[in-house]
Amino acid sequence: MNRRLGVLISGRGSNLQALINAIADGRLDATIAVVISNREDAVGLVRARAAGIEAFALSHRAFATRDDYDRALVAELQKRDVGLVCLAGFMRLVGAPLIEAFPNRILNIHPSLLPSFPGLDAQRQAVEHGVKVSGVTVHLVTAELDGGPIIVQRAVPVMPGDTADSLAERILVEEHLAYPEAVKIVLEGAWHLDGRRFVRH
Ligand code: GAR
Repeated sequence: MNRRLGVLISGRGSNLQALINAIADGRLDATIAVVISNREDAVGLVRARAAGIEAFALSHRAFATRDDYDRALVAELQKRDVGLVCLAGFMRLVGAPLIEAFPNRILNIHPSLLPSFPGLDAQRQAVEHGVKVSGVTVHLVTAELDGGPIIVQRAVPVMPGDTADSLAERILVEEHLAYPEAVKIVLEGAWHLDGRRFVRH
């Protein structure tokens, strides 16, 4: 499989950093071809450039529709021969043009054990619901929000007295392990989909 990654971010970029580190350490055999943020002020852009990776902002505000924006993303990714797209804290819904250009080739990381707590503020949702275990999910992106086939999950206990922030901090440690692991599994290619199940051989 084409091992050139395109990483889409919106902010801090700590999951991007985890991918950069895994590649640098030899734990993940891949190349980050480009990092694109929908926000100019994303700290992740600085992290990417510090690692010598091409990185730039493409603001969704410059486009009339979501599809126009997605088509512009596709053009930038294809120009760089990206084979796998990693959403790493990319806080935008991904639409049909992107999904059709990269079918089952877009990964997302989400800070809950899906299908619990999709959408925004997953860690706060978990604390407010009162679950005793939450965690992280890396999944393939489909048209359904946070609903695609699950590649990797890691569980994190919710402690009495946890706040959304303290839980988020503990989940983040597992996110940084889960994302490189999931990218590795997908790139190795020994898997298929059975309905919505991601099955490893
Ligand atoms: C991460 O916790 C990621 O799971 C979450 O945003 C954070 C980004 O952090 N993503 C979502 O909530 C997607 N719905 P990072 O920029 O430091 O990687």
